[in-house]
Amino acid sequence: MSSIMRVFKKRDALGEWLRQERSAGKTVGLVPTMGALHDGHLGLVNKARKENDVVVCSIFVNPIQFNNPADLKKYPRTPDSDLALLASAMCDAAFCPDEKEMYPEKETRVYDFGHLDKVMEGRFRHGHFNGVAIVVNKLFSIIQPHRAYFGEKDFQQLQIIKAMARIEGHDIMIVGCPTHREPDGLASSSRNRRLSEAQRREAPRIYQGLQMAAQMCPGHPPNTIKKKIISFINASAELEVEYFEMVRPDTLLPVKACVPCKKAIACIAVHAGSVRLIDNLAINS
Ligand code: PAF
Repeated sequence: MSSIMRVFKKRDALGEWLRQERSAGKTVGLVPTMGALHDGHLGLVNKARKENDVVVCSIFVNPIQFNNPADLKKYPRTPDSDLALLASAMCDAAFCPDEKEMYPEKETRVYDFGHLDKVMEGRFRHGHFNGVAIVVNKLFSIIQPHRAYFGEKDFQQLQIIKAMARIEGHDIMIVGCPTHREPDGLASSSRNRRLSEAQRREAPRIYQGLQMAAQMCPGHPPNTIKKKIISFINASAELEVEYFEMVRPDTLLPVKACVPCKKAIACIAVHAGSVRLIDNLAINS
């Protein structure tokens, strides 16, 4: 692995370099990101480094996955420190295209994900997952990695990406990686840096709420757990729950009863002022 990181802005140049690497028998790992990198992203890069000969990290704030223009505008952009972090993590190449490079023409593709994109994030962020699927499909086609790495914090996104890869026939291993957390339990996120001091102090209640749900299940009906967790988090003046759902991990269908031998996952979205945070935890698995 070379110590000098290559930075590509053009897909053709990246594609050409990767063709050479692949024809030398090297495996390629991809870590797709929207920048504003944190330790969670670096964990994905480290895992990709262990499992592949060449690691590419893409940095692209994908406009078509934002249903709220204000959110897109406020999304943190830290290109210089991102590249420095990737170089120090021994990433081989960064792909940093602009919008014209990724979308020379308007995108009209609409995926059918059935139930998967109708619930939770899909209910509150219309078009979000279609935009994610389009950009990840493009990255897969440009980079043709052997493996691609995603954080499990975006659990629903991971299921959507697996479904997209099946639909498109990509022969790529989709690797889900455990959520990286700050010492107080808050899931690492690029959005955390937009929290005020008071919001940041209160935000660990989200993970505490998820842990309470895991403790209550089994033994309590899902609706009782839901009410308890929502009122626990909403008791903070800084936080407001948008949704809390307990679902089956593969189908995202609601859990009707907590049964010890069946896997379930508790998923949550919370507003802290204008910052929207999501998290999840596997329960009774
Ligand atoms: O999880 C993200 O950062 C983005 O949704 C992704 C997968 C890079 C697509 O833009």
